[in-house]
Amino acid sequence: MTNTKTAAQPAGNLDPKWGAASLFHEPALLAGFRPRATDVLITTAPKAGTTWMQQILYQLRSGGDESFDNIFDVVPWLEYRRPGVDVATMLRDYEAMSNPRIFKTHCTYEQTPGTDTVRIVMTSRDPRDCCVSYYHHMINLADPIRDRLGVDENATFDDLFERWLAGGAWFRNIQSWWPHRTDANVLWLRYEDMKRDLEQAVDSIVGFLGWTLEPDQKARVLEHCSFEWMKRHNAKFSAVPGYTISEHFEKGGLIRKGKVGDYKTLLSKQQEQRILDQAREMLEPECLVFLGLVP
Ligand code: A3P
Repeated sequence: MTNTKTAAQPAGNLDPKWGAASLFHEPALLAGFRPRATDVLITTAPKAGTTWMQQILYQLRSGGDESFDNIFDVVPWLEYRRPGVDVATMLRDYEAMSNPRIFKTHCTYEQTPGTDTVRIVMTSRDPRDCCVSYYHHMINLADPIRDRLGVDENATFDDLFERWLAGGAWFRNIQSWWPHRTDANVLWLRYEDMKRDLEQAVDSIVGFLGWTLEPDQKARVLEHCSFEWMKRHNAKFSAVPGYTISEHFEKGGLIRKGKVGDYKTLLSKQQEQRILDQAREMLEPECLVFLGLVP
């Protein structure tokens, strides 16, 4: 795929492949982005461990730096337009970043710029856990943000389950990336495997990117990417640019529980079945096995 090499274009002229504009998706940023061979894109469905992977890659790149205030300052969200900042300014900021640049994205494969140029680390997570994580994320948001997302302050788990299922982001993400899981520039990791053995995940990322890591740096990376460390430093991970943690979350934050199988606390058997049915409808049998959704 050849990406547009010029600065941002007016919204009206954009190729529809960059997707529809929304609060968290600015197609002009995708159209105007100039990919580099040294870039690393973190791609995920929401709640699949995106922030964890942002931290892992930033820690690897920096050798264990903990001085940053907000993970988005060092690993921006590619298609998210910061409040009050225009697209041209954001693209200039992206151009000014030094190599290797790291970005987070929730784009599908088709919407992602530079898939033939950049390296991509994909993280998947059991959709049932993503759904429950999404619920907690939504109910913990501060009122102004929840209002902007159109989520009722009295929304129940059942309401948010329906919204998550109808939104379909998890299904679209996996469906679009699955055919590319063996592309030479794609590394696909599963949240569940990372939970089991973080060091192995770190080793495979380092090998994939060809980055070097000294033993003392590796020890820092593993410590700073542990759930406990990230939870202790929740404020670094819990607000998109333009907001402080308390403006973003009324209670808690993004680093919540970090468990595999947490869906069992909230999903009914019937809701679980609906997720699995939709997964069966949209994904190949081999993909369902890979994700651990069928025996
Ligand atoms: P839970 O809500 O299940 O706890 P995302 O960054 O894509 O929004 O994903 C957020 C989820 O990743 C949350 O899941 C969060 O707790 C979990 N997470 C973040 N850092 C983690 C870590 N170091 N180890 C395990 N899970 C982590």
